[in-house]
Amino acid sequence: MWVSLNELERSRSRLGRPSEGVGVSNGAALVAEFDALLRATQVGDGSDYLDIACGSGLMLNMASRRGALAHGLDASDRLLSLAKRRTPESDIRHGDMNALPWDDQSFDVATSCRGIWGPNQQAVHEAARVLRPGGCLGLSFFGAGRDGSQIGKAFKAIRRISDHEIDWSQQLGEIGLEGRAEEMCRIAGLEPAERQRVQFDLEGADLDHEVRAWMAAGPAWMAIQERGADEVERSIRQELSELDEPGLECVLKCLSNLLSQRNHHN
Ligand SMILES: C[S@@+](CC[C@H](N)C(=O)[O-])C[C@H]1O[C@@H](n2cnc3c(N)ncnc32)[C@H](O)[C@@H]1O
Repeated sequence: MWVSLNELERSRSRLGRPSEGVGVSNGAALVAEFDALLRATQVGDGSDYLDIACGSGLMLNMASRRGALAHGLDASDRLLSLAKRRTPESDIRHGDMNALPWDDQSFDVATSCRGIWGPNQQAVHEAARVLRPGGCLGLSFFGAGRDGSQIGKAFKAIRRISDHEIDWSQQLGEIGLEGRAEEMCRIAGLEPAERQRVQFDLEGADLDHEVRAWMAAGPAWMAIQERGADEVERSIRQELSELDEPGLECVLKCLSNLLSQRNHHN
């Protein structure tokens, strides 16, 4: 996870910013990734479906529109209130992905879009536990290689000024290493399929918008505690400024890795 439970909540209130981070401000950009993951995991009419670390609930809403019985969990109350507003008929709970508040074998499909990261083996075990035999877990995460993605620029801006983030963001990003996510799934008794890759653009209206979105993301909060908001903002602005096309948008080209796997446990 980005930060521990409640740290994220504090980060939102301390920043005092209405932006809820990149997941909200760039929601439309994520549709391509969400759609591909819903297809890969065959979420459809009547599927019992769970989105782990659902954030503001766009994925939940898309699953619900496909006819799934949508359930979601996140650690942030503020993001959950957006999720509830988007899909009031779904079952949305505040909680910890390392201890899911659902019984064993409750779901046909579970997904997590950039909610499960390198250190989160326990969350994969939990996902496997709540899946029925033959059920499917879908994960999306950023690749760790030099794949042309520009997402690393935002992380680099934070990492270069924060001692904490140097180590932590490396651990988070390890899920993107070839074979690592697959290994995490096998340890939990899941059988991974081939990775797919999906391209999308994070489009900020302009540089200010994009900087503000990244200032509200978890890793920035950790750095803000260490170095102060001004320094973090300066670093992010400097790194992203070369992507800004004045009069147009600030676009960050991203490549997401998708992995789906079956649960063979009885
Ligand atoms: C990168 S965001 C992804 C949000 C959403 N899946 C999306 O794609 O927009 C990571 C999410 O993980 C949530 N989170 C962090 N730690 C968590 C935990 N231990 N249990 C549940 N959610 C957690 C955060 O609140 C945040 O919404």
